[in-house]
Amino acid sequence: MAEMMELIPEEQLVAVARECCELATEEIKFHYANTNKQFETKSTAIDLVTQTDKRVEEIIIENIKKNYPNHFIISEESSTQDNTNLNENGYTWIIDPIDGTTNFVHKFPYICISIGISYKGKLIIGVVYSPILDELFYGIKGKGSYFKSPFTNNEFIKIKTNPTKEINKSLLSSNYPYGRTEEILKEVELKYGSFLRKGCRGIRGTGSAVMNMCYVANGSLDAYFENGIQIWDISAGKVIVEEAGGIVCDPCELNVENENTFLNNHRCLCCCNVELANEMIQVLKKVEEECKQ
Ligand code: IPD
Repeated sequence: MAEMMELIPEEQLVAVARECCELATEEIKFHYANTNKQFETKSTAIDLVTQTDKRVEEIIIENIKKNYPNHFIISEESSTQDNTNLNENGYTWIIDPIDGTTNFVHKFPYICISIGISYKGKLIIGVVYSPILDELFYGIKGKGSYFKSPFTNNEFIKIKTNPTKEINKSLLSSNYPYGRTEEILKEVELKYGSFLRKGCRGIRGTGSAVMNMCYVANGSLDAYFENGIQIWDISAGKVIVEEAGGIVCDPCELNVENENTFLNNHRCLCCCNVELANEMIQVLKKVEEECKQ
């Protein structure tokens, strides 16, 4: 119990999260090129999970428990839907062992390990590592967000979101949801149609929620929107985007006070700044109203 309340230097937590990524990387790389990966399905027939997701999760959890045996852990493949609240009294690690599992199955390189850390119910750290692209992002609350890749000569650079304020000057991103009911499809069509009509320069989708968010953080994209996501898809990205100067909010509301409520609400809008967020919220609110009719 005493350990749960003890304050740990953020740099130390980042180092352990990075170590988790390093330990898991070989497992991902070893199976990545296999064209005949075995998988099971989860919420729908297109929501996939492989043995590698499960093994990577084990490696990460083992390392967290070795360092911090009393920290709470929320993780995609082992948490159930009713235990996804951040611990209000101590630390919580929020893990997606492979964000972009469909990409992994199809050998499409946008996959990453995503680790968020919260303290007393507030996110404080995000670490995201893409083993195939060798891109590492991390953010620490109050201390900024950083990125390194072979294109930065493997040196960390501080990142900042774009100044783009209008939809018609922006490159947006989203992913297609696992749910394919008529209701969900209508909403997706209306959203894409509305942003295209507003003149956005394109709507990209990496197939990994947190990679979309990291690309908003480093200015490769201007915004990301998606409904149907889970807490482990967005926790690390939220810190990284906010610390790079961006906004992460509900698609129809700029301020959601309680972090637990927001992270478990299954919807996310992430923008490079508040002006773009306000313009996008107007569009998304209209779509929501049309969908209700
Ligand atoms: C998924 C990816 C995908 C997003 C889904 C997520 P997974 O995570 O982030 O891009 O559209 O909502 O669940 O299943 O690959 O870990």
